Amino acid sequence: MNDLPLRYALIGAGGIAQAHLQTIAALPGVTVVGIADPADPRTWRLSGPHAGAPRFTDAEVMLRETKPDLVSVCTPNKFHHPFTLLALAHGAHVACEKPMAMTVAEAEAMEAARARAGKLGSINFTYRNVAAFRFARELIAGGELGRLLRVNVVYLQSFLGAPATPHSWRNDVALAGFGALGDLGVHMIDGVHFLTGLAYRRVVGLAQTLIPEKPDAAGTPRPVTTDTNAAWLAELDGGVIGTFETTQIAPGYGNFFRIELSGEHGTLALHSDHPEEIWLRAGATLTRYATWKTDLPLQKLPTEFAGRGAPTTPAAIVHAIRGAKVDFPTFADGLRAQRVVGAILSSMQTGAWAPVA
Ligand SMILES: NC(=O)c1ccc[n+]([C@@H]2O[C@H](COP(=O)([O-])OP(=O)(O)OC[C@H]3O[C@@H](n4cnc5c(N)ncnc54)[C@H](O)[C@@H]3O)[C@@H](O)[C@H]2O)c1
Repeated sequence: MNDLPLRYALIGAGGIAQAHLQTIAALPGVTVVGIADPADPRTWRLSGPHAGAPRFTDAEVMLRETKPDLVSVCTPNKFHHPFTLLALAHGAHVACEKPMAMTVAEAEAMEAARARAGKLGSINFTYRNVAAFRFARELIAGGELGRLLRVNVVYLQSFLGAPATPHSWRNDVALAGFGALGDLGVHMIDGVHFLTGLAYRRVVGLAQTLIPEKPDAAGTPRPVTTDTNAAWLAELDGGVIGTFETTQIAPGYGNFFRIELSGEHGTLALHSDHPEEIWLRAGATLTRYATWKTDLPLQKLPTEFAGRGAPTTPAAIVHAIRGAKVDFPTFADGLRAQRVVGAILSSMQTGAWAPVA
């Protein structure tokens, strides 16, 4: 790995921006040349040695003045598309947050602009870095489960249902585009594709807003226009049936992301609270006989594998810019997930299955 000098800038200085700043700025040869956010800098949530980088309230001014090689886009979803196009136009590679965009058309335009500019683009599908996900992917690719037969995914949170959580951009469809469906759903959709390599053929789904309003930070009631609950059925390559459910308002659930898959010769399950463990029953001999006792033991990942880890997506794009061969979620992956969300929304309009283009 070389340490090619790299000028780095960040747009949006909220919660996830800290993760980008921490991982990218820590790499040798990276200089943080600017951070842009229109909010009062006293409200920015950045800390650490690079949080004091030059500050801008206008992203365009920052791009013009600082000429970064790489830009992280960490704003509310509505701004992913315009800031990505702007950063590419200023000659930068882009590490964009998920969901990639508000619509499929926006995501397509981002990928087309990236290709025209000859730059790299990543979408921060964080679970791809989790050791258990990478180990499960290796098991599935190695044929340990045999032909895949079923997928079940749940991603459940409670934060939005809590009265203490104030209204934010996440509850405004004009800024967020979607609620649980886009926020958590793209992790679910990408997670299954990452693990199995299977493409989505068609979907049918439903999303609902089950909390009509929330008070904002000043106590004023504001409407919730994003979905709080969504579920969909998918048919994947090979006719594999996928069932998916997500919510932001299930009491008791913090960040509960579970994927379970069964094939002819085994079942495995992954859980976000267990990044270095896997529930697994696999092997043609072991699974040959019927049993009436459920037995899916929680197993530790091989130590060597768990220790190996993977660079975070924002860090991986730096390695890729420097010429290393690294596996990271690209704009094409972001677009793929966006197309599935778009098809779920289409199916809601018609009440029928929608093909995934
Ligand atoms: N990959 C993940 O797992 C993950 C986790 C959390 C958030 N996210 C994504 O990251 C993005 C940001 O989420 P967050 O939790 O950090 O939100 P946040 O509310 O904490 O931060 C958003 C920041 O963007 C700033 N902003 C708003 N409009 C702007 C503009 N026009 N120009 C520049 N900055 C602007 C806000 O002032 C705020 O500082 C969202 O797209 C979200 O989906 C991804």
